[in-house]
Amino acid sequence: MSDHDVDDIAFLTGSPNESGFMVNKRAMYEPGAVMVCSQKRACCVVTLGFVAIISVALIVAFTKPGCPEATYIGEPIPGHSSHATNSPPTTVPTATTGEEFPWADVRLPFHVRPLYYDIVLHPNITTRHVKGNLTIKLTAIEETKAIIFHGRELNVSLLTLHNKYEKQLKTDKFLEYPAHQQLYLGLDETLRRGSNYTLRLSFEAHLKEGLEGFYLSSYINGDGEKRYIATTHFEPTAARAAFPCFDEPHLKAKFHLKIYREPDQFTLFNMPLLSSTSVAGSNLL
Ligand SMILES: *[C@@H]1O[C@H](CO)[C@@H](O)[C@H](O)[C@H]1NC(C)=O
Ligand SMILES: *[C@@H]1O[C@H](CO)[C@@H](O)[C@H](O)[C@H]1NC(C)=O
Ligand SMILES: *[C@@H]1O[C@H](CO)[C@@H](O)[C@H](O)[C@H]1NC(C)=O
Ligand SMILES: *[C@@H]1O[C@H](CO)[C@@H](O)[C@H](O)[C@H]1NC(C)=O
Repeated sequence: MSDHDVDDIAFLTGSPNESGFMVNKRAMYEPGAVMVCSQKRACCVVTLGFVAIISVALIVAFTKPGCPEATYIGEPIPGHSSHATNSPPTTVPTATTGEEFPWADVRLPFHVRPLYYDIVLHPNITTRHVKGNLTIKLTAIEETKAIIFHGRELNVSLLTLHNKYEKQLKTDKFLEYPAHQQLYLGLDETLRRGSNYTLRLSFEAHLKEGLEGFYLSSYINGDGEKRYIATTHFEPTAARAAFPCFDEPHLKAKFHLKIYREPDQFTLFNMPLLSSTSVAGSNLL
């Protein structure tokens, strides 16, 4: 599988078949396949590439020399408490709920790491709305009662956390701290060192016209018509704007992506296509 590893993931949805821009994008991202849907009215679910690696987060950009290594407030996260007491943060991070956000460092703690992401993305280029959900398989590096990861301008909802026996774990709180683009899931139970867990989340976002994350772009085709595409730019720290993830370079993982599109659109990805299926129109956003 590592033969197919790539340093970054990229995908794009739109109806841009006659464009020179598309040729460039294709060359740039080396797509494995172009999907064609035979059904006229139904939308397609495209199961795209595999075993890509999310290459992310330039920590250097955030870490000033002399920054405290970890500034955890409250009960320390094992393995990350060593410097916390030496350099207490001057301001207490406040979550969107008004509660204290229990992690003050811009870097994520290394007490859990992702192994595998299974992502479903349903972008709508007309409404500029993106709905998605994902399953993240995690492993606990240390015993911990918290999972901290990234998300930026995504309305993230926690679905469930299960252990490897499919027992659902009780969660305590789910907080968001936009200043650090972080999400905090506090647990009632302790994750066991070396054990695997499955975290399920859903989210909703807008396709924005920036040049980061999963964004809306446009081009003029040969007939002078303006066409829109949804495309990605993740480096250095924008994968978190496309879906919730552990957006740091040492937290790479494999993943599987499923993306919805309309029948007359197609989707490109920098990994090979596994399958493409038609689904009923009622499932569309
Ligand atoms: C994730 O989204 C897909 C497509 O919309 C849906 O079929 C599936 O049930 C969702 N999964 C969860 C856990 O919500
Ligand atoms: C956790 O998952 C990884 C990857 O699937 C697997 O190699 C490992 O054996 C699992 N660990 C446990 C304790 O089940
Ligand atoms: C996210 O939530 C906020 C506040 O509830 C809401 O105003 C916004 O429209 C939501 N965004 C999306 C894309 O659903
Ligand atoms: C996007 O939204 C439009 C308008 O609601 C709808 O007609 C279309 O089928 C949707 N497309 C997808 C891919 O969900």
